[in-house]
Amino acid sequence: MKKLSPIFLSGNGISRSLECPVIQSPLAGVSDQIFRKFVRRWAPKALLFTEMVNAKSLELGHGEEKVIELSQESGPIGVQLFDHRPDSMIEAAIKAESSGAFLIDINMGCPVKKIAKKGGGSALLKEPELAQLIVKKVSKAISIPLTVKIRLGWCENTSDPVVFALGLQEAGAQLITVHGRTRRQGFSGYANWEAISKIKQSLDIPVIANGDIKNSRDAIKCLEVTNADGVMIGRASMGAPWLVGQIDEEIQSQKAFISPDAKMKVSLCLEHLKLLVAKKGDHGLLIARKHMNWTCRGFESASTLRHKLVRARTPKEAIKLLEDELIKLN
Ligand SMILES: Cc1cc2nc3c(=O)[nH]c(=O)nc-3n(C[C@H](O)[C@H](O)[C@H](O)COP(=O)(O)O)c2cc1C
Repeated sequence: MKKLSPIFLSGNGISRSLECPVIQSPLAGVSDQIFRKFVRRWAPKALLFTEMVNAKSLELGHGEEKVIELSQESGPIGVQLFDHRPDSMIEAAIKAESSGAFLIDINMGCPVKKIAKKGGGSALLKEPELAQLIVKKVSKAISIPLTVKIRLGWCENTSDPVVFALGLQEAGAQLITVHGRTRRQGFSGYANWEAISKIKQSLDIPVIANGDIKNSRDAIKCLEVTNADGVMIGRASMGAPWLVGQIDEEIQSQKAFISPDAKMKVSLCLEHLKLLVAKKGDHGLLIARKHMNWTCRGFESASTLRHKLVRARTPKEAIKLLEDELIKLN
């Protein structure tokens, strides 16, 4: 595999360099500040993203908690915005920039009906002129680089993703991430890496390939097929915050990464749970449940522990279960 170079993004006054070609994807309901803190532990230089932020809400002063903490975090963190109103996008992007965003990303791929029905996310794939207008206006209003995350189109026959991506480049996008599925596909079938390769061939700006990368073998294969400048990891990192760092280390240095063992996974769950409860009170347990369910896998007592954790009614009960498990594993 060819050696990947750092990705240089010249913004409208402030330039940024991405030292790590493996990127953590924005994941609504997952990639919050606590999740990012764990990803950062293994991937100090990788670009991470906030969960997508509703631009209109941010413009009106809601949802600020998603961006307000950025200045306290280390390493590059992009803020991903969604909406279809250029003015709201501009106001939100300016707010996010002043909160310390490393770059602003616009979501043009979210398939969720509630969002697409109002014209945001993947609905913009059907509105290339509006999509370009948003990119043009926002990129002029901020100093940091503007990037866009797209899918291959609304459905197979409606639009040519190469033409769509070229339009975004022309409008001022500094980098495009492509999830190799159409909106109609949702998450079904396989990501079409060949289609990403066609976009990469046609664009001058960096292209990041996304979709179905679960490990470093997939990442290497995807980079060979697409010739992309980097890869973005989504679902496979849920419950595995070490994965971005692992893939980066394995593809860049070809060194074998020491995967977390049972003890480390249980400790991670305990730390995650305690942080969530400290921040959100008892509700933290509900959020922690899914993370613990994803992380507690791949060791002998994992399924029994998952079973018990799901039934824990209070944070105290769940903490006790994890602490007892750690004693057993010692
Ligand atoms: C739970 C979940 C939340 C997601 N949230 C976002 C989001 O906020 N913004 C976004 O651009 N994509 C979002 N995605 C899509 C992923 O970022 C990624 O593009 C997609 O899952 C394909 O990559 P993967 O095969 O590595 O998961 C989400 C996906 C999942 C499963």
